[in-house]
Amino acid sequence: MASQSPMLSPSSHSQSTTPTHRHPHHNTNYSSFQPNPSTVMLDRALSTRRFNPHPDHPSTAAADSDSTAPPSSSDDSKTKKHQNLLFRITNRASNYLTRFSSGYHLVCAFVALFALFVLASSLIFTSRGFVCISSYDPVSRARFFGFDGLESDFGALGVPWCRSKHGKTVEWTSKDLLKGLEEFVPIYETRPIKNNLYGMGFDHSFGLWFMARWLKPDLMIESGAFKGHSTWVLRQAMPNTPIISLSPRHPEKYLKKGPAYVDGNCTYFAGKDFVDFGSVDWPKVLHKHGVTDLSRVLIFFDDHQNELKRIEQALKAGFRHLVFEDNYDTGTGDHYSLRQICDQSYIRGGGHSCFKDSDEARIRSRRKKFWEKAVDIEELCGPGEAWWGVRGYMRDNFNHSNKAISYQQHFQNSRYIESILDVYWELPPVAGPSLTHQTRYDPARAPSPIVEDGRYGLFQRLGLAKLDNSVFNGYTQMVYLQISEQ
Ligand SMILES: C[S@@+](CC[C@H](N)C(=O)[O-])C[C@H]1O[C@@H](n2cnc3c(N)ncnc32)[C@H](O)[C@@H]1O
Repeated sequence: MASQSPMLSPSSHSQSTTPTHRHPHHNTNYSSFQPNPSTVMLDRALSTRRFNPHPDHPSTAAADSDSTAPPSSSDDSKTKKHQNLLFRITNRASNYLTRFSSGYHLVCAFVALFALFVLASSLIFTSRGFVCISSYDPVSRARFFGFDGLESDFGALGVPWCRSKHGKTVEWTSKDLLKGLEEFVPIYETRPIKNNLYGMGFDHSFGLWFMARWLKPDLMIESGAFKGHSTWVLRQAMPNTPIISLSPRHPEKYLKKGPAYVDGNCTYFAGKDFVDFGSVDWPKVLHKHGVTDLSRVLIFFDDHQNELKRIEQALKAGFRHLVFEDNYDTGTGDHYSLRQICDQSYIRGGGHSCFKDSDEARIRSRRKKFWEKAVDIEELCGPGEAWWGVRGYMRDNFNHSNKAISYQQHFQNSRYIESILDVYWELPPVAGPSLTHQTRYDPARAPSPIVEDGRYGLFQRLGLAKLDNSVFNGYTQMVYLQISEQ
């Protein structure tokens, strides 16, 4: 990654070389947008979004020679060859019959041949539907769908995301992400906790490292430390920045059983000293740390709590830069997430109908066969056709404390979020499923990956091919939020 001036630098916008893009729902010309320098912190964050998430995508920008033609194009030419062959056979047969048959027989023979031609052609056209695909095998999946099909059918319906007030988005580009990946892979290989089951995998570790490094906060706060992997990631991004870590069980407890990470420059509110994020006396704690500018603090939540609750608490304390590790899609996960909150019918791809004979229902049941975390319409919809959150519930605290909410409440929640949001940015997966062999999340419900399917050369050059497949299975749309100055 290129060396960056501190994220909080007021001059950061003028330094941006990123082309700015306009959101179709807004008329603001962002290229002329001038932020108030006094409010800029992690404010170094403006550029493109979902409608063209990777205009400068490295897969198109980098002069790579490893591009692979999608299987569908060779299938098309095979289909044409089969049709030509059939046509030649029927043609020869009819010539033969013309020579040897009477008029009546000729007509019958033509009708029979025509029927044979139609039958054989239709079999060729539909034969892809009969292909036997091993469940959750990404290679078969890629062959079956074609690389386009991996992402495109939900793409037609759209995938919801949170609107920000002025359509601002992050400053970093996919080229920056690619550069960051190159740097991060060797760092990740030195991680103390090699098997971080129930904690972050590669995608989110990279995302957290990248954002912390780019934003350069004065203080990092994490809620949900587990064995300390995310603390280690934050430390790799910012070697000298203090960390505050909140977690009911101290990471040192895990040391007795195996690898864990305890940081020397971290204040732990853990074990007997544990205090929930919402109950911390933040003015006192920040004063102790000598932090006066809250816009220079980065908060990382990986504690599986209702994200609406966490945003309200963060806002009350005055924090403005938040990262949520698990940004679950509607119908999934153990807590109410930003993705779920913003799933509203006025957003393209948002709002759902529980009608079983809809395009969405068909697409969902098809995708469920291939991706473990995909949900079909039956799973999505609870009693009374409640689809929002998880079957009409706002889940909280690892699914231990759930509350049924009305559609009106759900709607109000998204309006509230929109009213306080400057930036919403979902981390893309690092690479497409045919490269990582991940089998869990549906790529159609995620932004385009940093390294797209078919770019094996790039995947290998970045060192990603050396990593175990299991580290790519934990992607859940990590999200960065910038809250407006209140
Ligand atoms: C998924 S793990 C965190 C993984 C960790 N960030 C990593 O990357 O390895 C969730 C953690 O949240 C902790 N937790 C549970 N309730 C919490 C709360 N109210 N505040 C903070 N952490 C909490 C759990 O004990 C657990 O350690």
